[in-house]
Amino acid sequence: MSDILPGVAVSQAMGLGMQGGCDRDVQEIAEEAVARRFRLSGAAHPLLALLRRRAVEALAQSLRAGASCELPAPRMPLPPEVIHEANSGLVPGDLDGLAERARLPALPQVFLELQHAMEREEPSYEELAAIISKDPRLAASLLRLVNGPLFGFRAPVETVSRAVAAAGTRRVTSLALGTFVLGLFRERPPHVVNLHDFWLHSVATALMARVLATRMGRDDPERYFVAGLLHDIGWLAICAVWPAGAERVLDRCRDLGQTLTEAERAELGMTHGEMGAALLRRWNLPSVLVDAVQAHHAPSEAPASDEALLVHLADEAVKAFGIGGTGDDCVQPLDTDATGLRSISAHDLDAACAALLEGVDEMYAVLGAGSGVRP
Ligand SMILES: [Fe+2]
Ligand SMILES: [Fe+2]
Repeated sequence: MSDILPGVAVSQAMGLGMQGGCDRDVQEIAEEAVARRFRLSGAAHPLLALLRRRAVEALAQSLRAGASCELPAPRMPLPPEVIHEANSGLVPGDLDGLAERARLPALPQVFLELQHAMEREEPSYEELAAIISKDPRLAASLLRLVNGPLFGFRAPVETVSRAVAAAGTRRVTSLALGTFVLGLFRERPPHVVNLHDFWLHSVATALMARVLATRMGRDDPERYFVAGLLHDIGWLAICAVWPAGAERVLDRCRDLGQTLTEAERAELGMTHGEMGAALLRRWNLPSVLVDAVQAHHAPSEAPASDEALLVHLADEAVKAFGIGGTGDDCVQPLDTDATGLRSISAHDLDAACAALLEGVDEMYAVLGAGSGVRP
């Protein structure tokens, strides 16, 4: 089981009223904590019911293993100068204006070169290794990945070209993007969200989406990984450039019981999915990725995007387990208008949950090591 889950989960459990100390029945505490995460969505949908059951089990197990009992840190009020500065000139619904203010850097050259090489026929491992070796951080992340337990090689993999051969070219490309995006906003940490928790949520969603795609026999599961990694990038940008707006969105969710999408429409005139899609278009990333990010809370609006569907479910699974967070700790209702949802079996979801809990801290260590995000 992940060592990332317990501390976070227990903190949320403690927020439910364990003021009297750790003397209440563990099962009861776990059920209460998880019920709180599901307060918006309920668990009438069979996939949500399964997630809720597994989340209770995982949290109870963590508590029994003696996870620490810390109270969650309250959200700090925004400094007045941040509210003033960030609100000046912002217009609800102005996606381009907001994307402009996010001032994201260009995609790194190494990623573009990798993409370019991949578009040609069968690039050799040596050729790809030569590109990767130009970026020592990426090369180190790759070697760390293939030498970790996910791959389980007996002898150490010491060269980048052997690492490319072991990991596969698509996975290397998504790793390159991953190490880049995890470093974003490092020098300009956003208000409202905790950057560490945010990236943990993103990496976990990426992993879950990839596992689901693999189990369901999809081609190119790495596409799902990248979509999962980037799915909330629009929320991060909103928190960075319009923190007062982001805070009002979260307040609406908490005080009025609105879904994230409802609250965003009311306060910002846009959703973070739309904002993320606008940013990805600026990076000229493929439309399949743009569509997935845009529709990850409403996959029925992009019925051709299987990535949107699986990221949608992966996102809510990660919230159910309380892994990381983006400020809104509630599982959102599933989009039951998305017909593809019916093709996802409880069996596949269950297996993916187990893989998530096993693999998330390792994947985060690999990516976080490259970005310097992990404390
Ligand atoms: Fe989201
Ligand atoms: Fe998310």
